[in-house]
Amino acid sequence: MNKPKVIVTRKWPAAVEARLQELYDVQLNETDVPMTEDELKTALQIADALLPTVTDSITADILSVPNKRTKIIGNFGVGYNNIDIEAAKKEGLVVTNTPHVLTDCTADIAMLLLLMSARRASEGDRLARNKQWNGWAPTHMLGQKVTGKTLGLIGFGRIAQAMARKAYHGFGMKIICTAPHAPVPDVLQEFQATYYATADDVLAKADFISLHCPGGAATKHLINEQRLKLMRPSAHLINTARGDVVDSKALIKALKERWIAGAGLDVFEGEPNIDPGFLELDNVALLPHLGSATEETRAAMGNRVLDNIAAFFAGEEPGDRVA
Ligand code: DGY
Repeated sequence: MNKPKVIVTRKWPAAVEARLQELYDVQLNETDVPMTEDELKTALQIADALLPTVTDSITADILSVPNKRTKIIGNFGVGYNNIDIEAAKKEGLVVTNTPHVLTDCTADIAMLLLLMSARRASEGDRLARNKQWNGWAPTHMLGQKVTGKTLGLIGFGRIAQAMARKAYHGFGMKIICTAPHAPVPDVLQEFQATYYATADDVLAKADFISLHCPGGAATKHLINEQRLKLMRPSAHLINTARGDVVDSKALIKALKERWIAGAGLDVFEGEPNIDPGFLELDNVALLPHLGSATEETRAAMGNRVLDNIAAFFAGEEPGDRVA
């Protein structure tokens, strides 16, 4: 029997690519140059499975290409706001994602950014490198203490809970949260967490806000000028979710005018472009979307995609089906 034809849109960890080569008639992307819309359309016409990632915008237009051969889209990423899910459903396509395997590493990056922002780590690093450090002084580069402070989580899924675990057990932080549905009492109990019905309650009460909601139309600019004004002047905003959850212009204004003390960002509106307004500010720590960027996690994400398509080709329900 012929092996299914599989197209991978970006370069993947070598061990996972080797597995793909064993199992499938696979087209890899050795150059790692993102595919164009036309290339993606052609891929849907010639492959049984398309394996895109969070940087590939799989629009309704691409999905509606005639004479499709593709039956399953195995997204390399837990977030799937890069795919028009309604259009995929309409086209009868199965879509899967890669949950669980990146939970801890993404929460680690959120914690890293929280610490960087609170303790002014990016600013300190720049000062040291630029030979502008004149020596220790009692009032030099004072930041905010993290231990014992209140962490407000917007969204309370797997990654938020992993961050709560680290913050509660490791830093003795008080945990407050909001989510569209109240978490079950046992989950809150693990971190002695308090649930609030609205983001506004959490924003006003926390020393650190960390965003953990999905991207997309429902959360676009959830953090806007009005909500930034609810935060404490000593508070920090951490975003490892999706860039468009935050109105960048409003955040730049808030940081410049010190409505809030700082921010730590791993994701950006229109990334890889970063609003130049951020680059002029000392009170923002910037990372280039590193949430899941560890060797272990990226290999696990690839293997998760393989498990999903293997189940599909075996006529079973893929474990991580989202459409
Ligand atoms: C995801 O998987 O959605 C991340 O943003 C990239 O790891």
